[in-house]
Amino acid sequence: MITIAEAPSHHIDRRVYGQFAEHLGRCVYEGLWVGADSDIPNKNGIRRDAVEALRAIKVPVVRWPGGCFADEYHWLKGVGPERQSMVNTHWGGVVDPNTFGTHEYFELLQQLDSEAYINGNVGSGTVAEMADWVEYMTLDTGSPMADLRKRHGRDQPFSLEFFGVGNESWGCGGNMLPLHYANLYRQYQTYVRKYGEQPISKIACGANADDYEWTEVLMARAAGHMDGLSLHYYTLPTGEWDVKGAATGFDDRAWHETMRRTRFMDELLTRHGAIMDRHDPARRVSLIVDEWGTWYDVEPGTESGFLYQQNTIRDAVVAALNLHIFHKHASRVRMANIAQMVNVLQSMLLTDGPRLIKTPTYHVFDLYSDHQDAEWVDAAADDVDPFLDWTVSHKDGAYTIGLVNTGLEREASASVRLPSAIADVISARVLVGETSDAHNTFDAPDVVTPVVFDGYRVEGETLEVTLPPRAVASLRVSVA
Ligand code: AHR
Repeated sequence: MITIAEAPSHHIDRRVYGQFAEHLGRCVYEGLWVGADSDIPNKNGIRRDAVEALRAIKVPVVRWPGGCFADEYHWLKGVGPERQSMVNTHWGGVVDPNTFGTHEYFELLQQLDSEAYINGNVGSGTVAEMADWVEYMTLDTGSPMADLRKRHGRDQPFSLEFFGVGNESWGCGGNMLPLHYANLYRQYQTYVRKYGEQPISKIACGANADDYEWTEVLMARAAGHMDGLSLHYYTLPTGEWDVKGAATGFDDRAWHETMRRTRFMDELLTRHGAIMDRHDPARRVSLIVDEWGTWYDVEPGTESGFLYQQNTIRDAVVAALNLHIFHKHASRVRMANIAQMVNVLQSMLLTDGPRLIKTPTYHVFDLYSDHQDAEWVDAAADDVDPFLDWTVSHKDGAYTIGLVNTGLEREASASVRLPSAIADVISARVLVGETSDAHNTFDAPDVVTPVVFDGYRVEGETLEVTLPPRAVASLRVSVA
């Protein structure tokens, strides 16, 4: 029996459904940006099919330009009529023409109706460069940077909601030790000034997975200067960076290992959260999981630095499990950004020139969109199938129940008891894989797509649910 509590516990910030788009492989270039002269239908250079698909899942916030790329990005090369190219040394050594820059990013946000989360350059940039960028974007008028923005065609300041001060500063962002970064963070963030009405939430670079010392030092030395502290954790089926495992054609052991390693996110949030609670009991500083998702070996024949991988029902289940964990910890975790939006790692969309498909992960973000800005409701379990996982939230007078069967072989059943008699099952949909690596292709784009879910029965206050193996379901239920 899964018993849903009478009262909600905490709010689920819609931003835990956030996205990440880096200058990496074909994420920004081709995946989102094709340029105004492209044959691919676009609006102001941004492909229409991608925007249409992404608007449907209500993307709340997009992190950009990296990732590792952020700490070698010099924003001035990406504004104005004369763009200066650069070499993307982290990701394949390709030349980035910088045709997608600050103005194009805000154009994308406007088309998606999403908030901005820009990651600044600490690793190879200066305080002045970062300060100028913030001034360029957010100061209304009367300064060299505001005037430059106006000359580049944008009169009004942009709305900058979140600003990250460095990325993975313990690794690709400068290989720093925690105290060194804490000092730099304090210095750099001083010049991330608030010029207009819009407050800018400042996000410090947080830990790599279970590096609890990093969180301890940052919270002890710099918590008073930050609004958020990030965390990065990827699910690798093998746990090894050299041979991570394939996105398709894997065995049952790889499936179960992937599930086990995904569930580790819960321990990470509990332990990092406990450290943050000691320094910040009021939970003012958010924990921001601004990179998460599966990371496999790249698809055979593709550039190793482009991180292009297929996406299967296994990824859908991983996405749902992570979202369940974020909901549970949402009193501290107020943003998460899956890596990445298009064509890179666990993406929403895959493109092949003009063609575009939605991945199973996309469909989970669609099935679960009612959890955005809902209230999380605890649901206690008694004698429940160990392969089942669930999440419950309440919004607009109805409960949204997410259910996952992580098993490969058999159905999983549960009785889900609501706080009072069920009035209506407003909607019920399920995503199922016929095989453990069922996925969509450009020739068969709807192999894994949501269908109506009829595996339930209403008995007074209780939903009797039976989920097929390898499945993610979402039910919306109202009570009397
Ligand atoms: O998302 C891919 C890379 O993973 C990012 O650039 C980096 O921050 C992380 O190591």
